[in-house]
Amino acid sequence: MAGYLSSDTRKVTTHRLIEMKQRGEKISMLTSYDYTTAQIVDGAGVDVILVGDSASNVVAGNITTLPITLEQMIFLGKAVVRGVKRALVVVDMPFGTYQASAYEAVTNAIQMMKITHADALKLEGGEEVIDSVKKIIASGIPVMGHLGLMPQSINKYGTYAVRAKGDDEAEKLIRDAKLHQEAGCFAIVIEKVPAALAERVAKELTIPVIGIGAGGGVDGQAVVVPDMLGLTHGLSPRFLRRYADLHSVMTAVFLTDPATNAVLGVNARLGRRMKFKFAADTCRTHAEILQGSAESALLMSLEMVHGNDYIGISYRSTDLRRRAVLSA
Ligand code: KIV
Repeated sequence: MAGYLSSDTRKVTTHRLIEMKQRGEKISMLTSYDYTTAQIVDGAGVDVILVGDSASNVVAGNITTLPITLEQMIFLGKAVVRGVKRALVVVDMPFGTYQASAYEAVTNAIQMMKITHADALKLEGGEEVIDSVKKIIASGIPVMGHLGLMPQSINKYGTYAVRAKGDDEAEKLIRDAKLHQEAGCFAIVIEKVPAALAERVAKELTIPVIGIGAGGGVDGQAVVVPDMLGLTHGLSPRFLRRYADLHSVMTAVFLTDPATNAVLGVNARLGRRMKFKFAADTCRTHAEILQGSAESALLMSLEMVHGNDYIGISYRSTDLRRRAVLSA
């Protein structure tokens, strides 16, 4: 099946991804850091599951991807692999595990593969890491390269802004991409570069080029799942498309009072208890009135969950403005 989310149930291999590029089929790559999410992503027919070192941010709460360790990535990789039947599982080699020497790189890569049972590894960097890339591939481990914005080098860049806008950096990126292909990488990720540059790289390479924030002219797209689902609030890349607002949905659920009404009761922690019963239409109206306040997200979420059903909401209010609206 052409395009994202294949219904083909055969296990995805690195070879299949190259065939997909040859057929002009787009490749989908989503992150997962745990067994449960990996099962869902895999069940949806996504081609590649990346156990990204973005786990350092979204799982461990670090500001950068640098602190996450080999042991931590192994733990996450193992959990994800257990949840996957079809997708190709790629695990990120974390910062500091492959830069010092090709020997250290291959030793760590072998440990990662032995314990996680992943299908492939991803490494950030161009010609600076090419010896490590070659050594890992020579040991029988498939490697996905990662160029453009490389978050493990954030301290060098000092910014998460778009990379390779100038000619020199763009030329280096093209050279590095070709070096990766010659070294035997089965694919590369290109993050946050101008769309025209990413498209040119995808055209000049025979291996798939998977973009993130690199426009639509590439062979596939990578998406960080917590961003896509609206779980992460705060830093929000301009290219990011949110498909849901699970932050609000989860907040609404977690405010539910299991003792009174597990489905419909919404309780904030403080303040006076109030009860309301109204049709979904009214709920929608209130949600509009309350736009911009934290509570609007709450009501919107309930509307999403309950559709047009007649619903009741009971909750404690701490917000005077909201009380006034709801009692009107
Ligand atoms: O770690 C990660 O999630 C990644 C993606 C941004 C491609 O490398």
